[in-house]
Amino acid sequence: MRTLWPARAGDLVLRRPQPSELDDLLALRNDPACNRFMMRTHVEPETFRREWLSPGDGDHSCVAALDGRVVAIGFLEVEDGMGQPGMPRGTQASIGYLVSPGHWGRGVASALVGGLLTAAFDHLGLRRVTAGCNADNHASTRVLEKNGMRREQHGVEDSWHADLGWVDGYTYALLAREWRAR
Ligand SMILES: CC(C)(COP(=O)(O)OP(=O)(O)OC[C@H]1O[C@@H](n2cnc3c(N)ncnc32)[C@H](O)[C@@H]1OP(=O)(O)O)[C@@H](O)C(=O)NCCC(=O)NCCS
Repeated sequence: MRTLWPARAGDLVLRRPQPSELDDLLALRNDPACNRFMMRTHVEPETFRREWLSPGDGDHSCVAALDGRVVAIGFLEVEDGMGQPGMPRGTQASIGYLVSPGHWGRGVASALVGGLLTAAFDHLGLRRVTAGCNADNHASTRVLEKNGMRREQHGVEDSWHADLGWVDGYTYALLAREWRAR
């Protein structure tokens, strides 16, 4: 698999996690304060470890370290688009992110998303990147819009939220040519 990491994104270093960091990462991923707006609110420890220790083809997820300490997780998964026979494969990616609650509001997610987009467009040469979030996740929509992503779908009651029931979801996207034109 192509090695994208380590890379700098503002004050962050984006890199693969060390095996010794996986327990803390799992606690962050399963922290109810943090996964309130995540689609999966709990991940199984074994699955989580396996996915980080031997990522599948196209999985370029990373952690973000600030002053040597992991403060966020960034997901970057290469995918196929929709199309007819002959369509080139693996030309787009979806991204996701979560930041340790103690570090919210300091620009970590904004810098991390910038790093994920740089990796996707400048290093993997992808043509399109998407991100989904709940419409009520205002900090997340702000992070995506600050990075130039376009809201291109408002899914009315398309997402199930464990506390709120059916809620609206947004899909954001950015094309490589839009990225280059910024
Ligand atoms: C959403 C999340 C990633 C934001 O991370 P962060 O590092 O705090 O984000 P940043 O500091 O880079 O930027 C947050 C932006 O949202 C704004 N913001 C924060 N809370 C807000 C709110 N309730 N309404 C509107 N804007 C808000 C901030 O002011 C900031 O914008 P600004 O730079 O223009 O002032 C973080 O809260 C998180 O990990 N939440 C839990 C997991 C999650 O929801 N992940 C995303 C799933 S789609």
